[in-house]
Amino acid sequence: MALLLIALLHLLPDADDPAGIVARLLAPLAPGSYLALQHLGLDANEPKALAVSAAAGRDGVTLLPRRRTEILRFFDGLELVEPGLVQDALWRPDGEVPAEFRRSWGFAGVARKP
Ligand SMILES: C[S@@+](CC[C@H](N)C(=O)[O-])C[C@H]1O[C@@H](n2cnc3c(N)ncnc32)[C@H](O)[C@@H]1O
Repeated sequence: MALLLIALLHLLPDADDPAGIVARLLAPLAPGSYLALQHLGLDANEPKALAVSAAAGRDGVTLLPRRRTEILRFFDGLELVEPGLVQDALWRPDGEVPAEFRRSWGFAGVARKP
């Protein structure tokens, strides 16, 4: 089984306990299942990411780019597969990554439930 949480968790504030939600969704999955996750990050351009987050908030939309270290915690208890949690465009690209994709703020990772 694969659990796909693509472009989703940055819509959930910490108060919703997104890590707890991930753990609850993973709990019934068999060993050998995978989590694939994409999440907007702060690291690439923190001032701009915070400005976008604030603008979204003024429109009533929760958009919370998080630091890579925070996103890593969603994989607690799992085994990240290569290349780990990386800029999303660089997760096993099929070929050359266009320059505009290299500017993505997103992180992506896949991990196996032991
Ligand atoms: C950026 S889209 C990504 C959709 C899909 N995962 C994909 O990659 O195509 C985010 C999705 O999350 C949903 N969403 C927004 N807030 C949510 C919440 N609090 N709980 C569950 N889903 C939510 C939206 O309706 C939307 O379908």
